[in-house]
This record gives sequence, structure tokens and C-alpha cells, in this order.
Amino acid sequence: MNILVLTAHPDLSSSTANRKWFEALSDVEGIVTRDLTAVGGAEMRFNPSVEQALLEQADRIVMQFPFYWYSSPPVLKAWIDQVLLSGFAYGHGGDKLQGKELLLAVSTGGPAESFQAGAFNRFTMNEFLTPFEQTSLMVGMNYLPPFVLHSAMSRDKSKLEASTSELISYVTSPRLKQRSRQAY
Ligand SMILES: Cc1cc2nc3c(=O)[nH]c(=O)nc-3n(C[C@H](O)[C@H](O)[C@H](O)COP(=O)(O)O)c2cc1C
Repeated sequence: MNILVLTAHPDLSSSTANRKWFEALSDVEGIVTRDLTAVGGAEMRFNPSVEQALLEQADRIVMQFPFYWYSSPPVLKAWIDQVLLSGFAYGHGGDKLQGKELLLAVSTGGPAESFQAGAFNRFTMNEFLTPFEQTSLMVGMNYLPPFVLHSAMSRDKSKLEASTSELISYVTSPRLKQRSRQAY
């Protein structure tokens, strides 16, 4: 299985969680990692043909990012807007992503218990991530349950260490179940 990891952090050099994940995933055979900020530069400009060729070679696409204002950092949105074009991802002849898998790997500052009705963040992570889920449905991809690390800025480094090996085994696991809408 070919796995493409799209890492969307504005500055991996100042990151703890996402840099650790990025470096660990980069060392795994069969995984191609791509630092979108390094590729797109300050202007966040992407060459759609290059990005689309990488997507076509992948069976599973991982979008890895820190949770910023209840969404992803803007570089991922810029990449999506410039790459998932008509004729490729949707519209006439736009079937190139059909059947591929999409898996989100997200780190949050907030603790797990804050992401529920009645708590500080009011909504679950699955609810916050629905634009990605619907995008994957729209382009015919199978949306896999997201991998989420909460309290990512915690000083307890053992949690980050554990999450890194869990992430690698999750991302490389051959059979993952697509989430059904009823799971909410
Ligand atoms: C601009 C910005 C917005 C953020 N918004 C959220 C948020 O909405 N919810 C949350 O739980 N954490 C939020 N955080 C915390 C980040 O998710 C956290 O710093 C990140 O996951 C840590 O990963 P890193 O070490 O790779 O940078 C935000 C951080 C920044 C800088």
C-alpha cells in the first residue's frame, strides 16, 4: 500500500508534536511525506500536476496538522483549493481519487474532555472535522476515523512518544474501517 502524508504545519521547526510525527513517518518504508509549507512557500502556491501525480500513486492519503481555530492551518486549505480540481477530483472525468482512503492525523491543544456537548469546545472532533469528511465523500474517497492527539502541548513527553508509535501502526494498518455516518 502506498501512503502519502501531507503535513500542514506553518513552521515545523517550532513544532513539537507534528514535527515528531513528520520525522517518524518519514522514516517508514512505503510512506512518502510532504511538508506542504516547504513545498508551497510563503505564498502557498502549488503545482497541481505535481501534487495530483503524487495523489494518483497513493492508496491512502494522510493529512497531518495541528488544530488551529477549529480547523487546519491555511496551507492545507490552499493545497485543497489548488489541487482538488474539476476533471481530476470531481466533475467530468474527475474520478482520480475514487476508492482511495483519507485519514486525518490531528493534534489539539485542548484536552479530550473539552470536545463534547456541554464542555468548553461544545462539539466533538468528528463534528469539527466534517468539512474534510464531506470533501472526501464528494471526491469518492473513503474517510477513515481520524487519529487525534489531545493536549499536544503537555509537558508529559511520554504521551507524544506513545502517540507517535500508535500513529505509525494506525497509518500503516492494511485494513481500517470506514466510518459510517451512524457512528455519531
Ligand atoms: C493559531 C492557533 C490556533 C489554535 N487553535 C486551537 C483550537 O482551536 N483548538 C485547540 O484545541 N488548540 C488550538 N491550538 C493549539 C494547537 O492545536 C497546538 O499548539 C498544536 O496542536 C501543537 O502541535 P505542534 O507542536 O506540532 O505545533 C491553536 C494554536 C495556534 C497557534
